[in-house]
Amino acid sequence: MSLTNLFRRKPTSTILQQGGDGDHSGLNKVLNVRDLTFFGIAAIIGGGTFSAIGNACFSGGPAVILLYIMCAVACGFTAMCYAEFASRVPVSGSAYTYAYVSFGELFAWIIGWALIMEYSIGNIYIAFSWSGYFTNLLETFHIHLPEWLTINYKSAQDAFVANKGVEGLAAWQNAPVIGGLKIIFDLPAVVINILITYLVYRGTKESKNFSNVMVYIKLAIILLVIVVGAFYIDIDNWTPFMPNGFSGVMGGVSAVFFAYIGFDAVSTLAEESKNPQRDLPRGMIYSLVICTLVFIVLALVITGMVSYELLGVSDPLAEIFALKGVKWMLFIVSIAAVVAMTSVLLVFQMGQPRIWMTMSRDGLMPSKFAEIHPKYKTPGFATIVTGLVVGLPIFFTDENFVLDFTSIGTLFAFVLVCGGVLMLSPQSETELAERATKGKFRIPYVNSKFIFPLIMVAAIVLIQTYVPTFFTDVFDFSEGKMASNLPMLVFLLVCIVMTFLSFTKNLSLIPLLGLVSCCYLLTGMAVSNWMWFGIWLVLGLIFYFIYGYKNSKLNVN
Ligand code: ALA
Repeated sequence: MSLTNLFRRKPTSTILQQGGDGDHSGLNKVLNVRDLTFFGIAAIIGGGTFSAIGNACFSGGPAVILLYIMCAVACGFTAMCYAEFASRVPVSGSAYTYAYVSFGELFAWIIGWALIMEYSIGNIYIAFSWSGYFTNLLETFHIHLPEWLTINYKSAQDAFVANKGVEGLAAWQNAPVIGGLKIIFDLPAVVINILITYLVYRGTKESKNFSNVMVYIKLAIILLVIVVGAFYIDIDNWTPFMPNGFSGVMGGVSAVFFAYIGFDAVSTLAEESKNPQRDLPRGMIYSLVICTLVFIVLALVITGMVSYELLGVSDPLAEIFALKGVKWMLFIVSIAAVVAMTSVLLVFQMGQPRIWMTMSRDGLMPSKFAEIHPKYKTPGFATIVTGLVVGLPIFFTDENFVLDFTSIGTLFAFVLVCGGVLMLSPQSETELAERATKGKFRIPYVNSKFIFPLIMVAAIVLIQTYVPTFFTDVFDFSEGKMASNLPMLVFLLVCIVMTFLSFTKNLSLIPLLGLVSCCYLLTGMAVSNWMWFGIWLVLGLIFYFIYGYKNSKLNVN
């Protein structure tokens, strides 16, 4: 095994030849900029907006809007990096393909592997949240499913052990037992996964029409939530603004970041876009801007309606209207949540097979994953496997675990995408002129040589002024502190290295800020989640060395 082989890069020209440049991919090219923006919104507004926002507000108080702004900034810079790549390499693989041209094969594989967390594992969280709101909706029609069919096994078991949680306890007590095993699973989550898998299998055009309708419905209803909610705002609820300090705000980072995930899924539709180099960047950026505005206003409204202390529930938007006695909104919110989350499930369930398809074309996954269904023109086998990867864990995981896991994996991929843009070779004047005339997106180059070091110095001065204990706390190596300080220590090291590189290599400012801001968000993740993530990566590496390394199309031996 040679070390250089691990970092062999795929030439952009080969990538284009295989997928995005012509009729080679076999997929239907039907999507325009409006469809792509809609896909972005469809992917972004979902479980994070309707479910996870509750715990984020509970942890951070009204100051959670700072976290929404921070995540928007990090995602904004990253979106521009995705857009730069999408404009240069318009094929389906998303960050995976981008890493292949910039960092080489091993990193490409690692990203592809991490993206499974974003696309498939993220869908498990959304399926659970979907089920919660769907069950609420059934209740409004007086249809009651037994608890053992509406909760996952682990949550019911946890409820039994802790002796709290009405639904979990009821499920544990009333579940039928077969062969000594209690039968407890989330039936609506399983069923929605099967339906979505079928829809995606059937074809992009059908999925697109379905998705556009859902986006209209969910934006209209969220607007209604904001407008009706605004009448119930009591500004006293905005004080204290930051009840649990900044660490409380950062405690919601997984949840808030999860809400933003999705703009990048647009890039997996490159081969189904009519003009990917112009439209993909626009679709990503437009959807991100629209959703950021929605989130900030929504967070202000819900923390203004009731005390943040009441928001630590899994269906916060329904809860606020229940607390205010606005029954008709309860019904509407439940419908909106079900619709919103269905569209998110759809987009991610479309994204995952397309990434596998691209990896398979490169020889890193078995060739079956690249097979296109002759009639429906979709990657049929990969779509079915995605359905299984989402569906089977629904029986034995719980939502909090998958939420953290998804956010870590996605942020990790974002860091590599921003890093990838920093490593791209500069284009010639002719290439740049060609991009400009064709309206293709290009990330503006701002030299970070002096700006980035100045930003770092300003940050140190500000932190020292407003949080004088910050650095002494981080460098406190006493027992028990070391592990929890580790992520921040690593972040500071990254900042030092990047400051040095910005000065010596004249790095481009926007991707640099994207990389650093995503790294900062990663410091909010618990160390135990890092451990799980590490195990996941090791598993991925084992697969790579057993299969991908040998079968890679770049293999010359
Ligand atoms: N942003 C997506 C959601 O909140 C993943 O459901």
